[in-house]
Amino acid sequence: MALLLSTAFRENLIKQVYRLLLLGTLGFCSAAVTESPQLEAPPTITLSPGCPASFMLSDDNQCLLRNLYQLYDSLGDHGIGGLKTALPAHRDGFSPQQIDLGRLLFFDPVLSADQSVSCANCHNPSQGFSDGLGRSVGIHGQQGTRSAPSLWNSAFIKDFFWDARAQSLEEQALSPLFSPQEMGNNPAQLLSSLEAVDAYPELFKQAFPDSGDLSLDQIATALAAFQSSLISLNSRYDQYAHGYADALNPQEVEGLNIFRSFVARCSQCHMPPLFTNQQIAVIGTPEPQGMARDIGAEKTFDSVKLKGGFKVPSLRNIAETAPYMHSGRFETLREVAEFYSGGRGHAVPEGEDLLLHWHISEPNLTGDELDRLVDFMGTLSDSSLLPIIPQSVPSGLTTISDEAVEQRAISEIPINEKAINEKAINEKAISKKVISTKTISEKNISESNHEQS
Ligand code: HEC
Ligand code: HEC
Repeated sequence: MALLLSTAFRENLIKQVYRLLLLGTLGFCSAAVTESPQLEAPPTITLSPGCPASFMLSDDNQCLLRNLYQLYDSLGDHGIGGLKTALPAHRDGFSPQQIDLGRLLFFDPVLSADQSVSCANCHNPSQGFSDGLGRSVGIHGQQGTRSAPSLWNSAFIKDFFWDARAQSLEEQALSPLFSPQEMGNNPAQLLSSLEAVDAYPELFKQAFPDSGDLSLDQIATALAAFQSSLISLNSRYDQYAHGYADALNPQEVEGLNIFRSFVARCSQCHMPPLFTNQQIAVIGTPEPQGMARDIGAEKTFDSVKLKGGFKVPSLRNIAETAPYMHSGRFETLREVAEFYSGGRGHAVPEGEDLLLHWHISEPNLTGDELDRLVDFMGTLSDSSLLPIIPQSVPSGLTTISDEAVEQRAISEIPINEKAINEKAINEKAISKKVISTKTISEKNISESNHEQS
């Protein structure tokens, strides 16, 4: 169905978008801690009654997303295409309190069996909501087999995990909580440890006033609410797409043109504006040395045609989330670009049968063209709506400290990989310091929003 927008609606929408960019984050204050007059009473936490930036609060207390892409149409409503195309359908409509509760839970290690790992350990906001590792490290220092995807723009994603095995954020959330390799918890212990924290039962009542005692469903809903509020749609690419031609320099425009050419074919799968067509593709990524082939979506769909097939990942904020691919096989975007240019199936071991996607071709790009692709991918970064990282969480446990994450990661990785990973982590730490001093404090977030408007 074509989306017909009246002129009045468009104007109103534009006004709303600008107003929200200006005021949104200011309204989304961190949970306020109010000192009670009696010294012995515990402090009361009030969840934020305001929506995060880029959301509008409806009369029935729902946060509704507003962005400039809502002004555009999309062929067949698929949300895929060129510059001025609508985004795919999205999740919104959570209450501000649910989003804010989800934020506290996301950063609280009380959710894991030994209270040492929070979602944010592997999905760290200062690392593009990933963790800088090829394969994530969960409780007791266990290393998994896949890399942690970014969570930016999860609101638009249809299937979750590299192999597309979960169909909603709610379904997805329970998986790391109860996975022995990730957070290692079980339903009974999770509920009892949350109930044992003074503040949580009351906070869940604020977020779910009509739905009974603290439950797994409520935990999943709050986490989904927070994750769907992570919106990154104001990169330089977006500004270019909306009509500001100077947002990209000539090299980056050249990169965009290579990206969407039928020679390189990147945009056939990484389709704007989300930079994924949300399909599964077998592209023949090599596994890290010594690791068996990850069959990926073959298992999910019980189909050998999909052996080694993975969800086409969105490339938004891709410059922040090295290393790349489902198992972190490539350290840099330049290596990824070289992989695509290296010839169809060149990295598939002899004798292994993979049914490669027909858009995986033989583009033979020049060194300069590969550089331009990297330049272009760098324009997809935008963390201006970074949520406020809680200074403390209701359990009182230590929430992510970057140093702690790095230390844990380094000490748990097998010796032969240590050197490479340490190098990657150190490089990451350097670039991260710049990001974190620039954007993470609450003050700077409101300032940076102010500057944009
Ligand atoms: C130990 C590290 C670790 C922890 C802790 C962790 N994750 Fe993940 N997360 C991963 C990895 C690795 C994947 C990819 C797994 C796969 O595809 O099989 C993933 C995938 C996801 C995805 C799917 C993203 C996509 O686009 O496909 C979401 C959403 C997510 N995690 C949210 C969470 C939430 C919410 C929590 C806390 C309840 C959490 N994660 C805790 C490592 C972690
Ligand atoms: C046939 C569809 C397809 C085409 C064409 C394609 N990609 Fe991909 N891309 C994928 C899939 C699937 C993955 C994940 C593969 C994996 O993890 O093994 C991926 C992964 C990536 C990643 C890593 C993402 C991450 O989060 O780690 C980058 C970067 C990337 N592609 C860039 C490109 C560029 C640049 C081009 C053009 C030269 C291109 N892709 C062409 C399907 C495609």
